[in-house]
Amino acid sequence: MCGIVGYTGAKSAIELLLDSLEMLEHRGYDSVGIGCVEDNKGMVGIQKCVGRVHDLRKECEKQPMHSTCGIGHTRWATHGGVYTKNAHPHQCGKVTLVHNGIVENYRELTEDYELQGKLRSETDTEVVAALLDRYYQGDAEEAIKRVVQKLKGTFALVMMFEEEPGTIYAIRNVSPIVAAECERGMMLASDLTALGNFTKKYFVVPEYCVLKMTKDKMVITNLDGEGVEPQMQVLDWKVSGLGKEGYPFYMEKEIMEQPNVFAETIKRRIFKGMPDFSADGLSDDVLMSCKRICIVACGTAMHVGLITQALVKSILHMHIDVELASEFMYSDPVLDKDTLVIAVSQSGETVDTLEAFKYAKKCGATCLSVLNVRGSSISRVSDYVLYTEAGPEIAVASTKAYTTQLAVMYLMVAKMAFLRGALSEEETKAYIQELQNVPSKMEEILDRKKEIHVIAKEVLESKDLFMIGRGMDYSILLEGSLKLKEVSYIHSEAYASGELKHGPIALITEHTPVVALVTQGRIMSKELSNIKEVKARGANVVLFIKEKLATQLKEDYNVVTLPDLEDKFMVFPAIVALQLLAYYVSSDKGFDVDKPRNLAKVVTVE
Ligand code: M6R
Repeated sequence: MCGIVGYTGAKSAIELLLDSLEMLEHRGYDSVGIGCVEDNKGMVGIQKCVGRVHDLRKECEKQPMHSTCGIGHTRWATHGGVYTKNAHPHQCGKVTLVHNGIVENYRELTEDYELQGKLRSETDTEVVAALLDRYYQGDAEEAIKRVVQKLKGTFALVMMFEEEPGTIYAIRNVSPIVAAECERGMMLASDLTALGNFTKKYFVVPEYCVLKMTKDKMVITNLDGEGVEPQMQVLDWKVSGLGKEGYPFYMEKEIMEQPNVFAETIKRRIFKGMPDFSADGLSDDVLMSCKRICIVACGTAMHVGLITQALVKSILHMHIDVELASEFMYSDPVLDKDTLVIAVSQSGETVDTLEAFKYAKKCGATCLSVLNVRGSSISRVSDYVLYTEAGPEIAVASTKAYTTQLAVMYLMVAKMAFLRGALSEEETKAYIQELQNVPSKMEEILDRKKEIHVIAKEVLESKDLFMIGRGMDYSILLEGSLKLKEVSYIHSEAYASGELKHGPIALITEHTPVVALVTQGRIMSKELSNIKEVKARGANVVLFIKEKLATQLKEDYNVVTLPDLEDKFMVFPAIVALQLLAYYVSSDKGFDVDKPRNLAKVVTVE
């Protein structure tokens, strides 16, 4: 996590750093800081505070300074609480440093090099600053090279040394750093979002190479001192000019965008009514030859995996595992060249997913990713990439990324089913036709958002809440429940309704709120029995149900009917309704919907 930015050039650095940090707040927003070389003095001045970039802006206005070289950081706390002393940059002797990642052996380093007396914060980062200062004898590159070889864990380090005003150094392991020469000077950042306003050409700093950035040039050398040529890339991704377009929060705007971005995502992959991935460079052979599929992802993206699993099992009758990326490597996964490993990720930067994917690649698996952000770290290690057309997703709670990732997955399953003879051409076309009906059904539920706003009042005051359903409904609720808990802070648990009587039903008392979802005709009667069981114990049930199945139930419960689609496609209207529920609960409670506490949009620590 954490956003990093650095600038050196002829223009004023402070505004540029603050503006860029604002664009990096998706990486963390616990505290923020900048370190800038004061023009004419050569000293590095630090400004930092707990809170957001707009808070730091006010601090900087109080003590204006002129600088054309500086580094900045927006923090998501790992080691050490959310205090100003733990905010970056950290300064030790002649070294000023910002860091993204975790230095796992910071305790050992502190002891081995007797650094205690030098440390003022509780962070792992300051240990690196102290160590650099220890090794620095006038040659910054030498000090960096010696120090990084002692570090365990992932890191992106960006540094300034007092004796070299105007020069910024960077080095990384796993955690990304991108850099570019722009009109205004030289810039680097933890991700492209911060560079997009200034340039379209950039390069990724290679791992374990030192980047030296002065006002007019950048030089990269490896640990043996050999020069390394940067591999220039072009940014084909809109990162600027984004606004809320009249919505109070990005989350609402992004929920409302779903019909359009879903349609965009499938449009260019349907040819003559059939799924077609030729523009993505994905050959039929890749989809034909694999014997099993393994999906690795985290959070919402992992929930995409669960829906895909249900689809693959029912249509393709194929072996498919869905693994939490953070557990993957440590669960001794069985992988070989016949396994298609699919990483699903909005940001393409989630370090658990990235590391799981790299591991899969090492084991010889074919690696396909479904991503939203172009040019991200996961894209760079993929054999094949399928991009969604969600556009930049700003709200921490993922909404349009989920439905567009599913759009790609639904198409891929159709393609595989046709290639493998599980669906005839006619059946494949009917399936694709139903997928094309999804946007209008999402529109229908969005048009009724006021109704969901009213229903949201039923759960507004709850501390704990259950979401129950079976089969695909259970998988949908895992995502619905994640949405609710992350933005409303209500403790929400999704449960397979058949499991309730094996324990959790003990928690159901008079008025316990229970959100039930019923969209699957073949298990409807069983789902309804489970709903009756909680109702009989006094639960206040809010029922989201497919219109066609709802006929006699409207009197018994608070009901939201969901526009009809074939059962396998009901995830789309259902999740839109649950996203709206979460959104309204959070906004009615007066929370910062887009930036829930303790979270960050991009998760780059393990
Ligand atoms: O960028 P990714 O899709 O890899 O992120 C994975 C999760 O951190 C993410 O889906 C998270 O669970 C959502 N933001 C929750 O809404």
